[in-house]
Amino acid sequence: MPPKTYTWISLWFLLTAPIIAWDISYCLMRPRSMEGGDLHWFWAPAFGFYSQIDHLYNVSTYKKGDGFPNAHAILNLVETIMNLLYIYAAHVVAWPPAPLIGFTAAAMTVAKTFLYWSQEYFCGWCMVGHNSLVDIVKYWFLSSVPWVIVPSLILMRLGKDLVSELKYADQLSAVDDASSRKRR
Ligand SMILES: *[C@@H]1O[C@H](CO)[C@@H](O)[C@H](O)[C@H]1NC(C)=O
Repeated sequence: MPPKTYTWISLWFLLTAPIIAWDISYCLMRPRSMEGGDLHWFWAPAFGFYSQIDHLYNVSTYKKGDGFPNAHAILNLVETIMNLLYIYAAHVVAWPPAPLIGFTAAAMTVAKTFLYWSQEYFCGWCMVGHNSLVDIVKYWFLSSVPWVIVPSLILMRLGKDLVSELKYADQLSAVDDASSRKRR
C-alpha cells in the first residue's frame, strides 16, 4: 500500500525548503554573504536586517569564530535533505515507510529550534539582549515559532499513523503465529 500523505505536511516541507536553504547558505557562505561581502546582495533583503536583531548572524560573531551559526546550518541542511527525501519517498516512489523519514526530520527540527532558543537563554541573551523586548518577541521568537508548531503537528499526525501501522503489523503476526500453530 502507498503511504498515507497529507497536503499540508508535504506543502510545509516543500515551501520551507527554499527559505531554510537561504538561511543555510547565508551561514555557510560567510563572510561573502555578510554585510561588506561581494555576495551580500543575495541575502541582504532578510539577513541585512536580521543580523542586527540576532547578532549570531553578524560580522563580529563570524570574526570571533563562534561555531554555533554553522553548526545549526549543518543541522538545517540534514533536516532539509530529509524533508525533500520524504517528498520523494512519499509522492514519487510511494515507499510505504516514507512517514518514518518525515517523522524523524520533524523531530530534528523541533529539537534544533529548542537548542537555538536555549543556547541564547543560557548565554544570558548574548545575541539578542540588545533589542527591546517587543523586537525580541516579534523578530527573534515569533520567526522561529512556526518551526516548533508545524513540526509538532507533523509528529503527532505521522506518529499516529506509524503507531497504528505497527500495531496492525503486530496483530497480523499474532494471527499468523496462531494459524501456523494450528496447522502444526
Ligand atoms: C555583533 O555581535 C556581537 C555579539 O557577538 C556584538 O558585540 C557586536 O556589537 C555586533 N556587531 C554589530 C556590528 O552589530
